[in-house]
Amino acid sequence: MIILGVESSCDETGLALYDTERGLRAHALHSQVAMHEEYGGVVPELASRDHVRRALPLLGQVMRESELPLSAIDAIAYTQGPGLAGALLVGASVANGLALALDRPVLGVHHLEGHLLSPLLSATPPAFPFIALLVSGGHTQLMRVDGVGRYQLLGETLDDAAGEAFDKSAKLLGLGYPGGPAISRLAEFGDPDAYTLPRPMLHSKNLDFSFSGLKTAVLTLVKNHTSNLCEQDKANIARAFVDAIVEVLVAKCVAALKQTGMKRLVIAGGVGANAQLRAALNAAAARKRFEVFYPELALCTDNGAMIAFAGALRLQQNPAAATRDYGFNVKPRWPLDAIDS
Ligand code: KG4
Ligand code: ZN
Repeated sequence: MIILGVESSCDETGLALYDTERGLRAHALHSQVAMHEEYGGVVPELASRDHVRRALPLLGQVMRESELPLSAIDAIAYTQGPGLAGALLVGASVANGLALALDRPVLGVHHLEGHLLSPLLSATPPAFPFIALLVSGGHTQLMRVDGVGRYQLLGETLDDAAGEAFDKSAKLLGLGYPGGPAISRLAEFGDPDAYTLPRPMLHSKNLDFSFSGLKTAVLTLVKNHTSNLCEQDKANIARAFVDAIVEVLVAKCVAALKQTGMKRLVIAGGVGANAQLRAALNAAAARKRFEVFYPELALCTDNGAMIAFAGALRLQQNPAAATRDYGFNVKPRWPLDAIDS
C-alpha cells in the first residue's frame, strides 16, 4: 500500500510517499523560515499562502523522485490538526481534492501522532510500549505509548512549550527566528559557570513542566546588563539557558520511566534535534540503563513523511479509517489523548 502524506500545519510544507512494503519512497519539504524571519515569527496568513504555492510542486517532486505514477497512490493522509487553521486547510484541501480526482480514500492525521511515531521510521525502531517526550514549538508532553492510537498523557507544560522557550530566549539575545538551533550553537561557546538559571518544576512531584519563568530569567539577565551584550555574554546566557532546560527535560523523562517501570524512551518534535539534549539523554540512558530512540534528524522537525507513516499505521490497523467522504474539516486545537484509537 502506498500512502501520500501532506503536512501543512505551521511553516513547513511537507509531502511524502510511504510504501508499507518498501518504506519511505520519497519526501520533499519546503521550509518558510526565511519568509517569516523578518517578522520574528510565523505570520499565519503568509504561511497559508505559501502552502498554496508549494504543495503541488512538492507533489510533483515526490512523484518524480519515487518514479511512481499518481495512480500508484492508494490513500492520502493529511495533517488535520493541531496547527494554524488556514495553513491546515490548505493541506486538507490539496489532500481531499487529489483524493477525489484519483478516487482514493483520505484520512486526517494528528500532527503530534506523526511526531510521536516518527522514530519508528528509523533504522533501529523502538518496540512498544515506550515513554515519549514530545518537544516541539507548540507542545511539551510526556506520553505513555502502548501502541498505535494508545496514548496516555503523563505530564505537559503549564505555559510555554520547550521550543517556544528556545525561540523566545533566542529572540531576547537577538538571534532571529527560529531560535532553537541558533541558541544551541551559541551555547557551545558559553562558560557553564558564568550564570545559573532556574530549573522550573525540577523537584515537583508530577511530570508537568513550566518554561515561562526561564524565559523571564533570561530577560532579567539581558536587562541587567548596563552595556551592550558582547558575543561572549550572549554565549554564556545561551549556555545557562540550554543547561537549565536540558536538565529539566532529562529529569522528567527519567522520572516518567521510573514511574511507569519502562525502559524505552522516544524523543520526538523539533527540539529533539537539539545536540545538548541528545548528549544529556544518552548519558542518562547509559547511567540509568534505559534505551533512547530519536527520529532521523531530518524527520525531527515538521515533515510529510511522519504524516504518511502515521496514516499507513492507522490504515493497517483499521482500513475504514480512510473514507471517500471528502467533506473535510480541520482541528486547530486537538488534544492527542482525544483521538480515536
Ligand atoms: O516540531 P517542530 O518542527 O514544529 C512544531 O510542531 O512546533 O518544532 C519546531 C521547534 C522550534 O521551536 C525550534 O526552535 C525548535 O523546534 N528546534 C530546536 C532545534 N531545532 C528545532 N530547538 C533546539 N535545538 C534545536 N537544534
Ligand atoms: Zn511539529
